[in-house]
Amino acid sequence: MSGLGFSTRQLHAGERYDGPHAPRATPIHLSAGFVFDDFDQAHARFAGTDDGFSYTRVGNPTNAAAERRIADLESGSGALLVGSGQAAVATTILALVSTGDHVLSSSSIYEGTRELLRDDLARLGVTVDFIAEPNDLAAWERGIRPNTRVVFAESIPNPKNDVLDVAALARLTRRHAIPFVVDNTLATPYLLRPLEDGADIVVHSASKFLAGHGTVLGGVIVDGGTFPWAAHADAYPQIARTPGPDGLTFAERLPHAAFLDFARRVAMRYGPVPSPLNAFLILQGIETLSLRVQRQSDSALHLARWLEGHPQVESVDYSGLPSSPHHAVARRYLTRGFGAVLAVTVRGGVDGARAFTNALRVFTRMTHLGDVRSLVLHPATTTHVLRDADELAAAGIHPGLLRLSIGLEDLDDLVADLDRALGAVAGVAGASSAQAEVPVVEAVAPRRLLAV
Ligand SMILES: Cc1ncc(COP(=O)(O)O)c(C=O)c1O
Repeated sequence: MSGLGFSTRQLHAGERYDGPHAPRATPIHLSAGFVFDDFDQAHARFAGTDDGFSYTRVGNPTNAAAERRIADLESGSGALLVGSGQAAVATTILALVSTGDHVLSSSSIYEGTRELLRDDLARLGVTVDFIAEPNDLAAWERGIRPNTRVVFAESIPNPKNDVLDVAALARLTRRHAIPFVVDNTLATPYLLRPLEDGADIVVHSASKFLAGHGTVLGGVIVDGGTFPWAAHADAYPQIARTPGPDGLTFAERLPHAAFLDFARRVAMRYGPVPSPLNAFLILQGIETLSLRVQRQSDSALHLARWLEGHPQVESVDYSGLPSSPHHAVARRYLTRGFGAVLAVTVRGGVDGARAFTNALRVFTRMTHLGDVRSLVLHPATTTHVLRDADELAAAGIHPGLLRLSIGLEDLDDLVADLDRALGAVAGVAGASSAQAEVPVVEAVAPRRLLAV
């Protein structure tokens, strides 16, 4: 749908009126499989000479509608919907690496991804190095090895809002012929489209802004279609050297979606398949993406400015503020808004953070972001609880730091809620040291999940 605006495409891109009734909304094809007309059609579907549907783990019309729309919005050649954001990252990396390979990643990424790369890839014989400062190009250059097969980063990492200079890193990865994967969850294609700036592959947690309403999980992988796999067959033999049953490699069969075609096979075999009901809800969420993200970003900027001037606040991490070290990069990339997620460090360390969190009434205490409702979380004792004090300090996650994801509530109500919570901080901040420590927690077995 080239030539049309983002809001038009978020409603119409990839739509097809299927079947005799031509329903206006995308139907939810809640079916494990699809009927073959006859013996020969069944064979053709398995042999790949007929691209109709066979089994939902391999493909489903509702999931495919979501894939076409997201690929269009991200300016990709195609997309693959999977069961969660974590599945999108894992499938992408598994499609690109083999034992003995190396991954180079920004360390400023979602903690679940960091743990996947650090702990789970190590068991497969894949080594990983992390770059502490995402825009330190010299550090990326030094980190690249002959066996580096993926460069990974997030466009807007949380909670520090250290916005990535996508084009600069893309120039470096192009020079080294390494696929550059960007997690674009927090930016969404409304604010930033990394493929247009030279990234090769984009991933999302669709559970966040794309679905938008905190009801379902989903993930998506978008192929830029430009990486020259055939020219680097030694590094990526699984895509460019190994022939399929038709005698063609993935790179030969679909040169502009070779990665996606291979990733679809990886997903089909490992099995992180999304429910078509979830695909429908993600599609429905996308229909209002630009409206939500614009309003959330505008509110976040207003709240960041207000928080920065509050006496109970030590600092605010938001790239829309001139005080942010990432403001200049953000102004180049985020011309529509700076996103909905910010971090605020309140006085009184953990005691201040606890008082703040417990006093909120409109904000929801929840580990999630990109919801229509405003959410609050204390990273040091939740998402980052496995990091020790030195690692937390190195990442700038102070004891009093809280992550806020701004929703669609009335701005006055959000200001009043934050004001009430900061009043509670004032009650404890005087009594506590600003560096009040993150408590050490005793591990407990998740008894509610055990059968006995
Ligand atoms: C940036 C980012 N990527 C990936 C994920 C994982 O997504 P999911 O929870 O859908 O598996 C998250 C989850 O918070 C995230 O914030």
